[in-house]
Amino acid sequence: MKTVLSGIRPTGNLHLGNYYGALINFVKMQQENRCFFFIADWHSLTTHPDPKTLHINVKDVLSQYLACGLNPEQSTIYVQSDVPEIAELYLLLNMHAYLGELEKTVSFKEKARQNPNNVNAGLLTYPVLMATDILIHNADYVPVGKDQEQHLEMTRTYANRFNSKYGVKYFKQPKPFNFGQELIKIPGLDGSGKMGKSEGNCIYLIDEPKIIEKKVKGALTDNGPEGENSPKPNYIENLFTILKVVSTEEVVSFYENLWNSGEQRWYGKLKAQLAEDIIKVTSPMREKINDIKNDDEFLRRVTEIGAEKARESASKTLKDVREIMGFRSF
Ligand code: TRP
Repeated sequence: MKTVLSGIRPTGNLHLGNYYGALINFVKMQQENRCFFFIADWHSLTTHPDPKTLHINVKDVLSQYLACGLNPEQSTIYVQSDVPEIAELYLLLNMHAYLGELEKTVSFKEKARQNPNNVNAGLLTYPVLMATDILIHNADYVPVGKDQEQHLEMTRTYANRFNSKYGVKYFKQPKPFNFGQELIKIPGLDGSGKMGKSEGNCIYLIDEPKIIEKKVKGALTDNGPEGENSPKPNYIENLFTILKVVSTEEVVSFYENLWNSGEQRWYGKLKAQLAEDIIKVTSPMREKINDIKNDDEFLRRVTEIGAEKARESASKTLKDVREIMGFRSF
């Protein structure tokens, strides 16, 4: 059985793109692998969130993960800051991470450019903390998006460097987890590429039906097709892409036929249908999220059990690493 690890920074609510792009696959992934899912709250400190917001964000992400089907009995679901072993391994790995390579990291350069007044040491060593998250459980696979690939590459560098420095074959080379064909990309409602928080074009899992209707109504459209069987502009293609995910085949072919007929003035109907079907998908999750959010006892139990399991795995690694590096007891 392979070990798979996934981390998420607690930065707010999950949207439809997160759900179809990742969470649906995580639910399947956890049935076939030894999975760790954790909330990277230490990572979010680089931007100095205020304490109240930090806590709320952790709670939100956790509730939303659980509501989408991550199973605390099958997987290890934990909050990073509940596992102090990570901090110690981070310290040790930092000694093998060089300023030159950290300064060259794309994410570091980008953040430093955006926020020249907050170029802190934690930001610089962000990739080392991420490598620690992965190596502390000696994960085989890590599902990562494009923006995190370099961090995973650096993780392999640190694993290699540690192994060769101490003449051991201790750390594995973590690889990207590939969902292949199953990866669904949800586009935004504004005709842009993908649904994303910073793009401001999201439908959130916790959006009330009225909000969803309003957002879908506001999606970019035009007068309609320019004749029979004409090619679709991007923003219309995007609506069809979402429709294909949330609606039945009959509904999709009904609107495909309308498009191909060249007829105009039916986008109102399409949007109403799309909103209805999105609401059908998200409503059960929204209700679950709200139930879980109001159940502090459940959340406490989940995080306690998660921390216990994560610490058991992490402390084994740390014990070995200490021994390898020469920290030995008398
Ligand atoms: N850096 C990741 C992100 O911004 C979050 C993260 C932290 C992570 N530690 C990780 C992801 C370990 C995978 C594995 O999305």
